Amino acid sequence: MIIIPGPASNALGEAIAHKLGQEPVFIQNRIFPDGESYVQLPTELKDKTVVLIQTTAPEPDRKIMQLLFMARTAKDMGAKRIVAVLPYLAYARQDKRFLEGEALSFDIIFDLLEAVGVHDTIIIDVHSEEVLEELKPKHKMRIHNLTAIFVLAEYLQKNGYDGAYSLSPDIGRKSIVEKVSRVMGGGFAFFEKVRDRYTGKTTMVVKDLDLKGKNVVIFDDIISSGGTMSRAIRGLKEQGSGRVAAVCTHALPVAGANEKLRNAGADRIVATDTVESVYETVSIAGLVADYLKTL
Ligand code: R5P
Repeated sequence: MIIIPGPASNALGEAIAHKLGQEPVFIQNRIFPDGESYVQLPTELKDKTVVLIQTTAPEPDRKIMQLLFMARTAKDMGAKRIVAVLPYLAYARQDKRFLEGEALSFDIIFDLLEAVGVHDTIIIDVHSEEVLEELKPKHKMRIHNLTAIFVLAEYLQKNGYDGAYSLSPDIGRKSIVEKVSRVMGGGFAFFEKVRDRYTGKTTMVVKDLDLKGKNVVIFDDIISSGGTMSRAIRGLKEQGSGRVAAVCTHALPVAGANEKLRNAGADRIVATDTVESVYETVSIAGLVADYLKTL
């Protein structure tokens, strides 16, 4: 197995390779003045299993193109099996045609990966596992979704949140957060988020919970504008909760998101290294390395 980190995941790719007792093989890449990407795979890949590790944020379009170039080149060089690890899979939130004529971007990304010769795709905490399960039979390529939530829970337990209450800010991730609450040891609840499909605006239904003085961990897949988390944090603090940790797998903060979270009262903001961020970071390198050993 040859581990090749893409330009977007050099550090994580190296960490995964080291967990497997290997040195990663880095590619050559540059960006031309007009914005196009150049990639060159530097090694003999004939009859090898090649693992390409490339996250797809920020700048998802560029990073997806680089990954497609890498995969197709590995195929051209005779790789026996190509495994694409997309620690963060961009476009997964558009997983349904909510309005007529909308592009099903989630599905199209899988079509592209398959077209360039990827045999296995590994992703972490996909936005909707249910929709992924519906899509899988359409593809010959195998798609594996891992969850970082238990790695995050272990970290929080060791860092002041053992026995904390677990909260999902949205009903969509209710079942996985319910599972992790058994590990965390506190209770579990979820709020509900309703999105207007035309304006994109969301509102949150905050439930009354008996949380006086209790520490709470809010688990979500993504922090982007910070709007979802900050509304949930406010809802908890107004009910007299103790410390609140805002925890996500994929940190994609836009300008102003961190202030929003801090102003809402977040005591900790924790993310994984699927995407590099300024947040307190928990690595998923071990999770991915262990899974690669089972392929
Ligand atoms: C959406 O449904 C996701 O699960 C996240 O809740 C969302 O992407 C977070 O985005 P933001 O930080 O902009 O509220």
